[in-house]
Amino acid sequence: MARLQPGCCQGMTSHSLSRGRLGIGLVAIFVGLSLALVGCAPSTTPSMLDPRGPRAAEIASLWWIMFGLGALVFLVVMGMLLWGLFGRRRNQQDERGVIDEPANLGPRFITVAGAIIPAVIILIVFLFTLRTLAVLAAPNEPSRLLIEVVGYQWWWEVRYPDQQVTTANEIHIPIGRPVEIALTSGDVIHNFWVPQLMGKIDMNPGQTNTVWLEAAEPGVYYGVCAEFCGIQHAKMQFVVVAETEEQFAAWLARQRQPAPEPVDPLVRQGQQIFLGSACIYCHRVAGTNATGNLGPDLTHLASRLTLGAGVIENNRGNLAGWIVNPQTIKPGNKMPATNLSGPELQALLAYLETLQ
Ligand code: CUA
Repeated sequence: MARLQPGCCQGMTSHSLSRGRLGIGLVAIFVGLSLALVGCAPSTTPSMLDPRGPRAAEIASLWWIMFGLGALVFLVVMGMLLWGLFGRRRNQQDERGVIDEPANLGPRFITVAGAIIPAVIILIVFLFTLRTLAVLAAPNEPSRLLIEVVGYQWWWEVRYPDQQVTTANEIHIPIGRPVEIALTSGDVIHNFWVPQLMGKIDMNPGQTNTVWLEAAEPGVYYGVCAEFCGIQHAKMQFVVVAETEEQFAAWLARQRQPAPEPVDPLVRQGQQIFLGSACIYCHRVAGTNATGNLGPDLTHLASRLTLGAGVIENNRGNLAGWIVNPQTIKPGNKMPATNLSGPELQALLAYLETLQ
């Protein structure tokens, strides 16, 4: 315990002042960092805190519990830090002249704050995690719908094996019941995540992981690859279209149909350009001799919402840009640029637009 010595008041005051500035600086850094992190989230990002299905809602609840406990611990620790930084000043004005008495809270405080409270918090989080895992586990009734999704650099093959439907980068599901999704990868490790409907799960080559998707209401939900998988990882996206049982059944029935035979001369010319090009070595169009399986199945290309795995809207202009040079939109992807004349491109577009 130090006693106030004559002549040292000046030094002690500036020491306390620098401590005060340090405290204010720390608070400013925390506030600044918090604001910066909030500012990082673009408003269009699908948020896991805006769940649209029972499974995602359970994950969001767990997140809020962890956030609440974390925030409570943060506030208590910051309060104690501020007390430590500024609380000493009162001692300085103590009539006994005590300036540097350490806050001696004793071993009991260390036992309670350092061991018992953290153990209780971990136990609470553990119990809520067990509850979440139980909700996310396989449903009691076997799923009436199985969808297989295979991740590739950088797109998604989507298959409905029992209905013999293959599509890409777009998953249709009926609302109100869990749908079984079997996931694997054709090359490197990817990760399947629909923030508003379910939690993340890895897609590993040579292994099948299963997850259940469940949407409570109709809508289009964005999905992303959540594991770095190469230069276009950020542009490996997809959409989940949740619809009523009737809409879903109608969609499945349409997807089962082969591509229509062209009637219009321009469309027929477009089909000849397509079937006479290298396109057919990578892409499949059911009902034609295009049977490639290195890229997305194009049988119902025109019915999809996006192109390039969720990257651009599916419209004529974007499709033309993608065909002419997909490397400018998604550098590094496996589709090469094409060398078509203007009229050839128009004919090809006319054909691809009939693939509803
Ligand atoms: Cu696939 Cu990241």
